[in-house]
Amino acid sequence: MPEKVLVTRKVPDAGLRLLEGFDVTVLAEQPPERGELLEAVRGAAGILPTVTEKIDAEVMDAAGGDLRVIANMAVGYDNIDVEAATERGVVVTNTPEVLNETTADTAFMLLLAAARRLGEAERLLRSGRWDAWGPKQLTGPDVWGKRLGIIGFGRIGQVLARRTKGFDMELAYHDQYRNEEAERELGARYLELDELLRTCDFISIHTPLTPETTHLIGAEELRKMKPEAVLVNTSRGPVVDESALADALAEGLIFASGLDVYENEPEVHPKLLELENVVLAPHIGSASIETRDKMATLAAQNLAAVLRGKEPKTPVNG
Ligand code: GLV
Repeated sequence: MPEKVLVTRKVPDAGLRLLEGFDVTVLAEQPPERGELLEAVRGAAGILPTVTEKIDAEVMDAAGGDLRVIANMAVGYDNIDVEAATERGVVVTNTPEVLNETTADTAFMLLLAAARRLGEAERLLRSGRWDAWGPKQLTGPDVWGKRLGIIGFGRIGQVLARRTKGFDMELAYHDQYRNEEAERELGARYLELDELLRTCDFISIHTPLTPETTHLIGAEELRKMKPEAVLVNTSRGPVVDESALADALAEGLIFASGLDVYENEPEVHPKLLELENVVLAPHIGSASIETRDKMATLAAQNLAAVLRGKEPKTPVNG
């Protein structure tokens, strides 16, 4: 009997093709309701979820004793209770590396768009209210030559650092760990968070979501930033206190923000939706055709490896 595999969303075919030979159930285009997930997971030996599914102890127990692998199609795995998986002898895997370039592109896209007011400009044009070129119309700060502070200097943060070379930006970073080799290679300076917040023109967040990084940026941190600062978040919504950010943007404490992630996706703080000085993207950090193919492929390879008794490429627990 082929083993049962549950794929929680319609992921790219590049991944699904690798699961031939298993008894595969692919749920709908949209995220499944919790009840549907608990029902569909019964008897699964492998689950291939995405960031929209919370895979906790209840889901693992609903799957039952055959469950051996949860292969997340994402680099972040805060949607999975890794401890509960480890306790049950279930391997958890993620999809690092393959999305570094695309996600760094998204961060830089949001940074440029927020600084140069692209969303606001397009809304003006589409509304039919654009009546003439204006000498002071829609001006924003230059990006080139400014200081970028990267919070979380891991794989994606470092790729973003490379992106800035053509813009002659000065680089600073803050991370739990100093990385002197990357500092030398990329010409980035390590700063304590406080100094980074006070001195950077652009700040981009690339930390995983953990208890330590939850609300890392709140009202107090926003108050430390320059009034012309632009804050970009492509990591996870709860790293930023969304309500405090909406207040800071409304009060002009900082110039603008570019967001791809939110505290309660797909909900967005209603105040943010009203503001002109924030560019809002619907969690599309890794959304290039090539990268989504690679993520689905890696997730499926990881899942198949575990079920075939081999080492997965990118495990996150032992
Ligand atoms: C997407 O958010 C990911 O973690 O890959």
